[in-house]
Amino acid sequence: MTVLTASRIANPATLADIVIPDAARDAMGTQLAAMPEPTARIDWAMARFHQIFATLPVEVLQQILDFGRHSDTPGVGYVRNLPVDAVVPPTPGDGGPSVGKPSYVAEGVLLGLSGLLGEPVGFLTEKQGQLVHDVVPVPGGAKTQTNQGSTVFLNFHNDIVHDSIGRYDVSNPDFLVLSCLRADHEGIAATYYADARDIVAALDDQALEILRSPLFRLNAPGSYVRDVAGGGEVLSDPVPILSGPQEFPEIAVSANGVRAMTSGAQTVLDRLQAACREVSHQVFLRPGQALLINNRKGLHARSQFTARYDGEDRWLQRTYVRRSQWTIRYRATEGNRRVHH
Ligand SMILES: [Fe+2]
Repeated sequence: MTVLTASRIANPATLADIVIPDAARDAMGTQLAAMPEPTARIDWAMARFHQIFATLPVEVLQQILDFGRHSDTPGVGYVRNLPVDAVVPPTPGDGGPSVGKPSYVAEGVLLGLSGLLGEPVGFLTEKQGQLVHDVVPVPGGAKTQTNQGSTVFLNFHNDIVHDSIGRYDVSNPDFLVLSCLRADHEGIAATYYADARDIVAALDDQALEILRSPLFRLNAPGSYVRDVAGGGEVLSDPVPILSGPQEFPEIAVSANGVRAMTSGAQTVLDRLQAACREVSHQVFLRPGQALLINNRKGLHARSQFTARYDGEDRWLQRTYVRRSQWTIRYRATEGNRRVHH
C-alpha cells in the first residue's frame, strides 16, 4: 500500500512529516475509544483531547504546535500512524454525518489535532455549521468544484467563506485538518498542497506584481451560492491573490471561480494554477493519516477519482480551525459559541 508518495516535493521545508510512534498511537487510541460523541459537550471534549494529545512524545507535540504557531514553519503537515476506529460504518452517501457510528476515535483524532492548532469553528453556510465535516462524494456533486466532487480535478484553492464585509479571505479558517477514514476504491485520490513560498519562487516578477494587485474578485463557495444565492455568482470586492511580506506571503483563491478584472490578470491566474501543479506536494491519504493544512500559507487541490456510491467510497473528515475566535466575533450566533453566520 502506498504510504507517502512525495513525488513532487519541490521544497521539503514546506512539508512536515509527522509520525506518531506505535506506543503513543495505542495509548491514545484506548483513551479516544472511551470518549462519548464529542460535539454534544464540545468544550469539555476539547479539554479532554488536550489531555490525551499531551501524552505524545514532546518532540512530536512540539512539531505540531510549531506548525500552528510560527510563520516560518511548513504549510502542510502529513501526520501518520494515528489511532483508528475498530469499526468504520459505511461511508455516508448524502454528505452528512454517519448515523450509528459506534465509536468516535476518528472524530477525537480530528478535533484533538485541531485543538493543537487553534479552535474548531463552524459556519452556518458550510455543512449547517457542523464542526466535523464529512467529505464524501455525492452523486449530484460529482462534477462540481466542491468537497462533494469526484470526477473532476478540484483546482488549487483555499477554503474561503462568504462574508457580508465583501472580503471572503478574512474570517475564513486559518487551518483545515483533513483526516482519512476510508480511501477511494482504487487508492488514486491525491491531495495536493502548493505553498505560496514555492509558488512565488516559480513565477516571474511581472506575474507576481499582478497577483499582488487588487484585480481579482473571488466567487463565494459552492455551498453558499447553491443554498443562499440560487446558483448565481456572489463576488467579493476586488482583492489581490498574494499579499504580505515577501518571506511570508499569504494567498487566496476561491474554488468556485475567480473573476479576473483584466485579460492580463486572467493569463496570470492560469499560470498560477500551472505553477501550483509544478511545485505541489502530493499525498495519498489512508486511514490513520491526516493532513494539517495552513489555509493562508498555501493552496490545496484534489485529483479525480471514481466514486461508486456503495458505502465503501472515500471518506474524509474535516475541521475549520481559527487560531482565535475573537477576530470573527462579528459573525457569532446566539446558540453556539463555535458556530458563526
Ligand atoms: Fe478545500
